[in-house]
Amino acid sequence: MQKNVIPHKFSITKEQRGELKDHNALLLWFTGLSGSGKSTIANAVEHALHERGIHTYILDGDNVRKGLNNNLSFSPEDRTENIRRIAEVANLMVDAGLVVLAAFVSPYEKDRKNIEDIVGKQNFVEIFIDTPLEECERRDVKGLYAKARAGEIQDFTGISAPYETPKKPDIIVDTTTNTVEESAAIVLKKIEKKLTN
Ligand code: ADX
Repeated sequence: MQKNVIPHKFSITKEQRGELKDHNALLLWFTGLSGSGKSTIANAVEHALHERGIHTYILDGDNVRKGLNNNLSFSPEDRTENIRRIAEVANLMVDAGLVVLAAFVSPYEKDRKNIEDIVGKQNFVEIFIDTPLEECERRDVKGLYAKARAGEIQDFTGISAPYETPKKPDIIVDTTTNTVEESAAIVLKKIEKKLTN
């Protein structure tokens, strides 16, 4: 069927949209265990960018798994589909000229590679929120680790499902030695050139 889908050539380009906004579009992808601080740090980064007049949008479990992806489970296949759809949505938003901040566990290396293939290497920044399992479990903000340990949640990342640590992320943030503000500052410093070059 897709062979009969022929894209229309629209006249306004991504570059023209970028000129209007006066900054480049990017996908900042935050990966890490549940409770590692992905959404909290993404929120702080977005706040700082917004203050500078940069056009942003956050994608995370709350606005995606409750809507677009509400038919997906946490099986390996559904996680792959979760990430693929998010990457496609983010790609459209990047094309629209936004700086997209996406906070998802995204535990599989191959799925994270697929995001880069979808949005293009130059638009993609992989940020590993490096919080050890023991620390996430100690914080247990949502009470999910206790439930997973009690066997009430199956396939829970870090407990009964794998997390494949990023081998070469663009940015690593150690949340055991940095505050939220310091973590956000690390990200902002690293993306500075990509935003304006
Ligand atoms: S991903 O693996 O497909 O990338 P995603 O980031 O969308 O996961 O959702 C993870 C969030 O869903 C966690 O932060 C946690 O709040 C919740 N959750 C519920 N069940 C699970 C599970 N089995 N494994 C991991 N997270 C879960």
